[in-house]
Amino acid sequence: MSSSTPTTPVSIRLRRARISDVPALFEVEHTSFDGDKLSERRLRHWVTAPNGILLLAHSGDSVLGFCLVFSRVDSPAARLYSIAISKAARGQGLGKKLLGKAESLAREQGSTSMRLEVAASNHVAIGLYQKLGYQIFGRKTAYYEDGQDALRMQKLL
Ligand SMILES: CC(C)(COP(=O)(O)OP(=O)(O)OC[C@H]1O[C@@H](n2cnc3c(N)ncnc32)[C@H](O)[C@@H]1OP(=O)(O)O)[C@@H](O)C(=O)NCCC(=O)NCCS
Repeated sequence: MSSSTPTTPVSIRLRRARISDVPALFEVEHTSFDGDKLSERRLRHWVTAPNGILLLAHSGDSVLGFCLVFSRVDSPAARLYSIAISKAARGQGLGKKLLGKAESLAREQGSTSMRLEVAASNHVAIGLYQKLGYQIFGRKTAYYEDGQDALRMQKLL
């Protein structure tokens, strides 16, 4: 019989972010984007903002990714502001899970659609959104800090 300790797989869970998660969220954000990054100050704002849904995926104490959605009183459309999964945790369905849960919460809060912008060259993210039923409805020229265009996508909730 082996004397090594068996490792129990730790399950991945989703929950709302807390202020104490901000450094880990910032790390995921910082290592996922080259520009247009959320600062720790903005992340702290969105943790407590009543119109924000800041959800994270974690395994034990490790934050694996997050998504941020917000709504405005003057619009029936919620907006996906950011989604990022740590490099080691990509390709396991976490992006789909997080965005699916954020959509449900936005719908419960009265939003009837979700809108987002994505860099026209970000084929992985565009693939994620299309898989979840988002459709392209516009383009914003030179939207990002590096001059790239954004595609505008939306889905009815
Ligand atoms: C985009 C991102 C959030 C996707 O998260 P993820 O957890 O890896 O995605 P999932 O495993 O849930 O995959 C969802 C879908 O995305 C697409 N996708 C994921 N990885 C892909 C890859 N390497 N190549 C092509 N498509 C891919 C597929 O359509 C996939 O669906 P499938 O698994 O049924 O084929 C992640 O790659 C990331 O954090 N990227 C850096 C930050 C970023 O670009 N955010 C989006 C800003 S708009």
